Amino acid sequence: MIPSLDPSKSDSHPTSTHSFQGWVQGLRGNNHVQFLQLRTQGKIFQVVAEKEFLGEDTFKQVKGLPQETSLVVEGILQENAKAPGGKELFLHSLTIVGESDQYPITPKEHGPDFLHNHRHLWLRSKRQLAIQRVRSELSFAIREFFRNDSYTLIDTPILTGSIGESAGTLFSTAYFDLGQAYLAQTGQLYLETAAFAHSKVYCFGPTFRAEKSKTRRHLTEFWMLEAETAFLNQEANMHLQERFVKTVLRTTIERTLEDLKVLERDPAPLLEQLNRTFPRVDYGEAIQILQTAGEEITWGEDINSDREQILTAHFGTALFIQNFPRAIKAFYMKQNPNDPKTVLSADLIAPDGIGEIIGGSEREESYEKIVERLKEEGLPPEDYSWYLDLRKYGSVPHSGFGMGLERVIAWVCGLSHIRECIPFPRMIYRLTP
Ligand code: 4AD
Ligand code: MG
Repeated sequence: MIPSLDPSKSDSHPTSTHSFQGWVQGLRGNNHVQFLQLRTQGKIFQVVAEKEFLGEDTFKQVKGLPQETSLVVEGILQENAKAPGGKELFLHSLTIVGESDQYPITPKEHGPDFLHNHRHLWLRSKRQLAIQRVRSELSFAIREFFRNDSYTLIDTPILTGSIGESAGTLFSTAYFDLGQAYLAQTGQLYLETAAFAHSKVYCFGPTFRAEKSKTRRHLTEFWMLEAETAFLNQEANMHLQERFVKTVLRTTIERTLEDLKVLERDPAPLLEQLNRTFPRVDYGEAIQILQTAGEEITWGEDINSDREQILTAHFGTALFIQNFPRAIKAFYMKQNPNDPKTVLSADLIAPDGIGEIIGGSEREESYEKIVERLKEEGLPPEDYSWYLDLRKYGSVPHSGFGMGLERVIAWVCGLSHIRECIPFPRMIYRLTP
């Protein structure tokens, strides 16, 4: 068996040997000493190979190791402030586990198409290691937040019989004798039912949208965090969202400082933004600001990503746009009692070109109103009988929201495109690897 390794847990006795398993990320040096960058447990660890110690043959073997050869190295740990992690291994011996010939991703520049075609290998590169680690930490912080807040995790189905969000962006598949099944665009409707069981619930999983647009912020498969809370109004819902976003971002940044360094992302300005209260701007007010900025936009139109950017630049921070026109939002949003042409909804817009990261609302609790809205949208109310039951048996005010994971990762990492934020991006023009 190949011995296990973890530099941080190694015993510090200078004469005992340690062994590490990994892959050759890179090699540099001269004819006397080689520094092997070993990728072990997703981190780079330095192995020092000295000709004088190893002898001519072994040294030559090390010097000629092709990129991504897998191997086990054995030697003595020593301090070196310049080595990644502050320690390095002085090499005594090595065993090759798997050879690697002509690894396609070399230290030279490659175009994004080439890299995405080699995504299965590209995941091994330094920046990609850092991004996936940020994703992992952010996902963990999200679960931690809701657990600390006494929310129950509810896993909602991916194959569904009714349309969750809008008919325009559906993936469907033949489903035995039952007609069409749709891939979930959201877990929300199911989450609402569970909120009437547990009061505070969340789901976190992949969602699917047949988005025909090739933008920097759309995937056809993306991960969404959704939370739903009974007896919560939209005001408190926004408050929860703000506390949630600030908490998970701060936690993630704190835990990924080394990774952000690799990504050359200075977290200071982001942390500074998180110290500010996110302004809450009425949709109507946002339209006025845009008009003043010279945009030709009228009340009733959706706010696209370029215009979101004008708004975040105007406020210099993330902001909520609230009370959208009823006609451009989903059927389940509660009509605004103070302005019936709008709904009690809000989008949270992130700066740095990221745009909408959260969509949320209070839910319509009136049976009659929601049936009317379904009909307006051309959705058959009989497909929603189970959902409508909520409005019959103990209906209560309730609210929720959904946050797109990849957009938030792009925000934390300072990336302009969300395709690197998911291990295997699915886009209109990409289904492999
Ligand atoms: O605003 P959306 O469509 O809201 C819902 O699906 C609600 N049912 C959520 C809820 O209230 N439970 O989507 C929520 C978020 C967006 O703000 C955005 O961050 C992300 O999901 N999102 C996407 N991310 C990547 N690619 C796409 N195609 C996305 N569509 C939405
Ligand atoms: Mg939205």
